[in-house]
Formats: sequence, structure tokens, C-alpha cells
Amino acid sequence: MHKGKIAAALAAVDLVKPDSVLGVGSGSTVEVFIQQLAKAGIRLEGAVASSEATAAVLTKNGFDVLDLNMTGSLDLYIDGADEVNPNLQLIKGGGGALTREKIVAAASNQFVCIVDDSKLVDVLGEFPLPVEVIPMARSYVAREILTLGADPEFREAPRTDNGNQILDCVGLHIDDPIELETIINNIAGVVTVGLFAERPADQLLIGYTDGRVEERSAEG
Ligand code: 5RP
Repeated sequence: MHKGKIAAALAAVDLVKPDSVLGVGSGSTVEVFIQQLAKAGIRLEGAVASSEATAAVLTKNGFDVLDLNMTGSLDLYIDGADEVNPNLQLIKGGGGALTREKIVAAASNQFVCIVDDSKLVDVLGEFPLPVEVIPMARSYVAREILTLGADPEFREAPRTDNGNQILDCVGLHIDDPIELETIINNIAGVVTVGLFAERPADQLLIGYTDGRVEERSAEG
């Protein structure tokens, strides 16, 4: 485990208000965050999970998992990322949870992203961009993505929590993340693209191997 992930996860624990309803993302950094939250003895009214895997970790650590349909808007969402650019726009979905992550982020007033410093890039796209697709549309969407200059690779993995499949798009250099997010989301059969550009993170906590944590906000 990258020590920076642990440092960023620990810093995020300080942002959580006891007895609140928290949005919780997916991945190894978030898993550490949940464990540290439990260790700190912070109790929640409940948490909305962005994946079945996260729901299981929350339950194991003693937190109640709530249905987003029952909670209304959330004050705070904590999640990791696969790449982050200087505008706090993200590539997410390495773990396949991009659609639910985007939903919980959209329903939250504040999105705090926790990463180690290896996730920082100037331009998004070196990490293959995940696209969740309806299974019958997989080949059609792949052909459309080829026209955008990317190489779509079918992810050999179990279906997503939503019963869909993922194409990982290799070879992109994303100069205009909002435009590309819109273009890919408009392809018939695409459920979600793992670009979080229209709704970037509001705050970024970057953990370094020496335990230091740097904070950046959308305002700069
Ligand atoms: C899952 C995600 C994760 O946030 C992303 O993959 C980062 O994971 P990790 O914290 O394990 O590096 O988007 O769909």
C-alpha cells in the first residue's frame, strides 16, 4: 500500500462530522479511510456507498449503509481517483464503480478526493479511460470510441454492480475533459464515462510517502 494513500485517508477523517450522513466512494484508499474512521471512533447516522464492495466494508466496520433515495442531498462525499489534473478533474472507474460514484458525487454538496501523489497529471488520459456500457451496445460503442482516436479494450471482469460491462479507452490525451465527457456520454449505449470534469472534485487531499498531506481546492 502506497503510504500516501494512508496519509490522505487519515486527513479525510478530520473532515467528517459525527452523526452525519456521508457519501463514500470505492477503492483501496477509501477502504483505508473507512477503517480509520472506525478506528477514530467517529459514528455516523449512516453512509451512502458507491459500490457493493464499499457497502460490505462499511458494514464490516460497523456503519449503517443507507439508500440514496432515502437520504436527500449529502453534505460530503469522500472518494479516490485514478488520475487528477490541476483543475481537480478526474479519471475514475479503475475499480469499475464509476456510475454509482458519479451519482453520489452529483448528489453531494462537497466532493473531497483522496489520492497519493502518483495520481497527479498535467493532462488526463494516460490512465485508460473507463466507459460503462450496456452489454448489447458494447461493439457499437467501441466503434464510436475508435473514431475519437482511442483504442477501446474490453475489460475481462465480472459485470459492474449495475449489470453492465466496461471498455477501457487507451491512448487518449484529454485536452478538453468537459467536451470529451459530453461526447462520450452522448453515445447510445454508454451508461457513464469515468471522466469527472463537468463536476470535478471540490477539494483534493494528496498524500506523500513521507506522510505529508497537501490540500488543493477548486478555487486554486
Ligand atoms: C473505483 C475508483 C477508485 O476511486 C480509483 O480506482 C482509485 O482507487 P485506489 O484508491 O485503489 O487507487 O474510481 O471505481
